[in-house]
Amino acid sequence: MKIPKFSAAFRRKTLGSALVVHDGPPLKRVLGTFDLTMNGIAAIIGAGIFVLVGTVASAHAGPGIWLSFSLSGLACACVALAYAELAGMLPSAGSVYEYAYHTMGEVIAFLMGWSVLVAYAVGSSAVAVALSDYLEELLRPTGIILPTWLSQAPAHDVGAAIMLGAGSLAAGLVMHWLGRSGGLLSFLWVPLAAFGAFKLAIALPLVTSINLVAVAAIALISLHLYHGVKESVRFTTFLSVIETALVIGFIVLTAGSFNTANLEPLMPFGPLGIISGAGTIFFAYIGFDSITTMGDECRQPEKSMPRAIIYSLAVCTVLYILVGLTMVAAVPYAELGADAPLAFVLRKVGYGWLVSVFSLGVLISIESTLNVMLYAQSRIIMSMSRDRLLPPKIGAVSHKHHTPYVAITVVGLFSALASGLFPIGTLAGLVNIGVMAAFVAVCIGVIVLRYLAPDASRTFRCPLMPAVPALGALISIVMMLSLGAQVWMLYGVALLVGLLIYLAYGFKHSRLNSSN
Ligand code: ALA
Repeated sequence: MKIPKFSAAFRRKTLGSALVVHDGPPLKRVLGTFDLTMNGIAAIIGAGIFVLVGTVASAHAGPGIWLSFSLSGLACACVALAYAELAGMLPSAGSVYEYAYHTMGEVIAFLMGWSVLVAYAVGSSAVAVALSDYLEELLRPTGIILPTWLSQAPAHDVGAAIMLGAGSLAAGLVMHWLGRSGGLLSFLWVPLAAFGAFKLAIALPLVTSINLVAVAAIALISLHLYHGVKESVRFTTFLSVIETALVIGFIVLTAGSFNTANLEPLMPFGPLGIISGAGTIFFAYIGFDSITTMGDECRQPEKSMPRAIIYSLAVCTVLYILVGLTMVAAVPYAELGADAPLAFVLRKVGYGWLVSVFSLGVLISIESTLNVMLYAQSRIIMSMSRDRLLPPKIGAVSHKHHTPYVAITVVGLFSALASGLFPIGTLAGLVNIGVMAAFVAVCIGVIVLRYLAPDASRTFRCPLMPAVPALGALISIVMMLSLGAQVWMLYGVALLVGLLIYLAYGFKHSRLNSSN
């Protein structure tokens, strides 16, 4: 096989090619606008609004938390309009990966797809851990206490060492598999796999506990996704109705204790507190983008996807601002750092008797977020492998269930491992930065496509071009800068790993490589 020049890494897909290639049976086109909107809501409402909101109020934004929600919501609204235009033009399952492939070139597309994959994988682990925390809360009144060894992550450095060991061993074995025909990969795999095995041998005996509840939650949902999309989407629609009712219920109950004195001072941590609060609470908005991974299973993706993106984000933004406002008006912000802040607020305003029911609803809500996140990862992997930027076997679709079963298994294994080994807060910043980078790419992509293909048919047009996507990109970049140096370092490492995989495999095997 002839190796192409590196400039080929910026080759682009042409419009109309997104739907052309299918390996194996196509996915079933069974979803409509309502399904997509409800799935968007299910993905959005989760650990962010039920868990992170307390930290943001007590340590970042104070009573001005609704400003943080508004700033983050404004960025997401601008990005959603850009997403909606691109989703209508390129209605396949690849999301930002597909858009960047048409606008910024293959290597950027791979890195953006990779960025979202890492973010969703880490995000689903974090969400699974929140699920196990609330299960413990729910069981507490019954006297059932889950033993620490099966409900807590191990010490942070032990978890990190196991992830590093398992990751290196897996990367080494994959390199061995990819490099069977010779080249650098055929001997580089030995030191990498040996390092991974060594790290694992040292770290495994130090494990005294593992969050098996989170692992089991991910395993169950992966099994569910494996059995077919209509079943899992219907299930998610049902769950999203429950969680919307839960949030509205919280707003109504708390509004009765609205005390304007609690809203002073508006910004105890200054304007920077509002911005860093927006950067953190951004996690609560993540999920509407997952709608753009459902294109292959949608009856009229070019119409349903733009509508569902806008509807789901609009509903959640309004609900979030109201939750933020009623929460800080009901209870002084400094008291909101509790593990389960909304349950804490309900107790404070005299609805303690409702907390168990509320916790059950939160469990359901977090579960549905997990469902959509795992789904979205498998579809992005499928799109990348369809283009041969990842090996075709990883994106294979089951003849029986019409689902990408290998991708679901890979994603499930990685997320389960991470959720068993890390506490929730550890990698939340990594999730946000990965998704924000993708948002910037989407905003740039929509502007670029207006120039590259001004006459292409668009079922939805982003208004006020290029101001809206430019504002979306700008706020996303400002929020990215508000995340700490450690988050940037971790993100840099994740991107480097992605780049190596692209150079080792995708660059040569890409369908767009004319010498294949
Ligand atoms: N938006 C999702 C959540 O808050 C990720 O859990």
